[in-house]
Amino acid sequence: MTAEKYFYLETFGCQMNVVDSERIVDMLLEIGYRQIESPEQAGLILVNTCSVRDKAERKVYGHLGRFKPLKEARPDLILGVGGCVAQQEGEKLLSGLPYLDLVFGTHNVHRLPEMVQQVEQSRKRCVATEFQDRDTRLMLFPNRSGRNTVTRFVTVMQGCDNFCSYCIVPHVRGREISRPAGEIVAEVEALADQGMKEVTLLGQNVNSYGLKGGGAESFSDLLRRVHDIENLERLRFTTSHPKDISDELIDCFRDLDKLCKHIHLPVQSGSSRTLKAMNRGYDREQYLDKVRRLREACPEIRLATDIIVGFPGETEEDFEQTLSLVEEVGYADAFLFLYSPRPGTAAAEFGETNTAGEKQARFDRLLKLQHNLSEQSWSADVGRELPILVEGESKAGQGQIFGRTTWNRIVNFDADSSLVGKIAKVRITRNFRNSQLGELIA
Ligand code: 5AD
Ligand code: SF4
Repeated sequence: MTAEKYFYLETFGCQMNVVDSERIVDMLLEIGYRQIESPEQAGLILVNTCSVRDKAERKVYGHLGRFKPLKEARPDLILGVGGCVAQQEGEKLLSGLPYLDLVFGTHNVHRLPEMVQQVEQSRKRCVATEFQDRDTRLMLFPNRSGRNTVTRFVTVMQGCDNFCSYCIVPHVRGREISRPAGEIVAEVEALADQGMKEVTLLGQNVNSYGLKGGGAESFSDLLRRVHDIENLERLRFTTSHPKDISDELIDCFRDLDKLCKHIHLPVQSGSSRTLKAMNRGYDREQYLDKVRRLREACPEIRLATDIIVGFPGETEEDFEQTLSLVEEVGYADAFLFLYSPRPGTAAAEFGETNTAGEKQARFDRLLKLQHNLSEQSWSADVGRELPILVEGESKAGQGQIFGRTTWNRIVNFDADSSLVGKIAKVRITRNFRNSQLGELIA
């Protein structure tokens, strides 16, 4: 009889990494490991990393350092790193971190079981960071089943060909590739049969789904097909590139009842000059025009965005354009980032033109404006009766459950967990910074 083997997994970064981590869990369960929630007892520790900004990347090194004493105490412990930092650094991670056993990049998640077994048997350290060809990648799209959850992500495309000048993603995730629509529909159907009520179609840039050939249809056609799946209550997608939002996609917000009235539409800057330097492929007016048309199609739609503050060459005037765009759109949420140069990207060669202090001061001004806009947007819900898809028991308190509004806002309310997976009618009673409180009506 073999002793039980346990693994501990930490995940950083975006939803792509979350989905890759779900896949890692499935594969490790298959080779006899069980997951535990703390690293102390684990025989295998894995960190799935993000390198989109240097802050995220520094966190990785900090985290790996924490495991060094564990490895010293238990030399047979296996320590591995995956994700975008692994892809970027490869071998260098092994030489820099002598207590590390394996490194697997973004195109090699599927090889993890084999790599773990190799280390188990021979203690030989290993690295897999080569990019896979198109056909291999098409076969490797995560296809998950089981796991009885109300809401899930299903990957529809991977990679990115846009090469925004600041962004590391095209370098660490490789070229864009779309998964055949039939396969996506089959996966969503299978999950819906097992009790999933809401799906979020996931990709670095879902709006260019199918544009690069390969037999895939357009993203709006895909949405319509997924929308037709019986037993599915809600449909979302993330994330969108403004330049690829088609009229047909905008029509989906008018026509499809199950499509939630919420879109994450990263603008990055309100200045056409800065957008050009970022290689975003749209200007301020074109972005605002898409927003206007989305609102025409769906008056209740709410928007979230990403903004980079302090991009090379950004002047006070450019920044004021960002402030005014944010005000004009009236985002419900905005994720703000201080620009950080990423090695290997075009913008890393531009050289910084703003001091850290200037960047921070702009960031603080924008944050203050956004806090007010978010408050305005979310507090408008207080007193309204809204349909909430219940996801589970709330972390906040006993006897409370939580779900989300169509706008993806978390609402906690008193009710028992028999409502999980159902749409409840809830009156919103209070708005907090990151969630809302409600009372059950029906
Ligand atoms: N510096 C700062 N923010 C960045 N982002 C991507 N790359 C960088 C960078 N080099 C932000 C963008 C993107 C989000 C995921 O991260 O706003 O939409
Ligand atoms: Fe990065 Fe631009 Fe691709 Fe988004 S669209 S992943 S910001 S290169």
